[in-house]
Amino acid sequence: MTDKNITSLTIRQPDDWHLHLRDGDMLRAVLPETARHFGRAIIMPNLIPPVVTAEQAVAYRDRIMAALPQDSTFIPLMTLYLTEETDPDDVAAAHAEGIATAVKLYPAGATTNSASGVSDFNKVRHVLEKMAEIGMPLCVHGEVTNADVDIFDREAVFIDKVLKPLRKKVPDLKVVMEHITTQDAVDYVRDTPKNLAATITTHHLIINRNHILVGGIKPHYYCLPVAKRELHRVALVQAAISGDKRFFLGTDSAPHTDPAKLQACGCAGCFTATNTMSCLAEVFDAAGALPKLEAFSSLNGPRYYGLEPNARTITLTKGEPVSYPSAIPTPDGPVTVFNPGFDLHWSVQTN
Ligand code: DOR
Ligand code: ZN
Repeated sequence: MTDKNITSLTIRQPDDWHLHLRDGDMLRAVLPETARHFGRAIIMPNLIPPVVTAEQAVAYRDRIMAALPQDSTFIPLMTLYLTEETDPDDVAAAHAEGIATAVKLYPAGATTNSASGVSDFNKVRHVLEKMAEIGMPLCVHGEVTNADVDIFDREAVFIDKVLKPLRKKVPDLKVVMEHITTQDAVDYVRDTPKNLAATITTHHLIINRNHILVGGIKPHYYCLPVAKRELHRVALVQAAISGDKRFFLGTDSAPHTDPAKLQACGCAGCFTATNTMSCLAEVFDAAGALPKLEAFSSLNGPRYYGLEPNARTITLTKGEPVSYPSAIPTPDGPVTVFNPGFDLHWSVQTN
């Protein structure tokens, strides 16, 4: 059977190495969407106020566990939000006690709730050195925030101006460049033999910047980093289907209610938790690369984080188009589910 003729695929249960769950009513509304298909997820700490200390991470993890559907085996892997005041010993203790899996670096002002992020990288160097010593990964939102840098160039400039110098200063630090959107980032990761990996989102494998802007503005496709030209999307697909162990799934599923997105200054984020595995199967199928889906969604991530793949499996089956809800209700309004713009033929069953 050629790859194109595959109609059923059983793979290890996937993990999401970059996820926004929020808190309160929103958390309760969106968590089941991820827990339905995924075994684990790296939980972003950009709440208001952010999850900075080990104590806050424990409290947030408890709220997530309380919001899980009964019988769910989903495991949230917590992160700490890096600030210029972060205490390296608190980070090390949180890692040793299994409270925090990684630390998240937001350049100040880069995106949603990033005001407490880092402006002066020298001020966090002692934290990064401690993390390198204990083998704790740093998840990086890789965009500069300077007003004079074009928004479509912010990732490429970040690599040259921030990430390369930072990795030179702390070469033993394990870095995850998150939600990469450019050929530049793919090349940088490919050219780096050690301590660097990247996550790729579902939506960046599917949309380019035309999808956001041509024929009327589409707020539900607006996210950060913003989608780039088609050549970059193609580079991301090539990286994802390559089987290269340094590329893995991080959906960056980022729920905002429609009222928050559909306004003069709308929020950034695509909500893909609900239909991600069907979308990915479609992308990999179209590329004739279904046998590589498991590496991308279920094997490469745990390998980089030093964890075992999930013991459970899921089965993807190709058939008539699968329907997903177009939105998830919350008390503050609906959260629109990402529309890939094509039919989804792959249904997902958790075994
Ligand atoms: O589009 C995005 N939404 N990008 C981010 O980096 C943050 C996220 C959010 O929290 O809404
Ligand atoms: Zn994110």
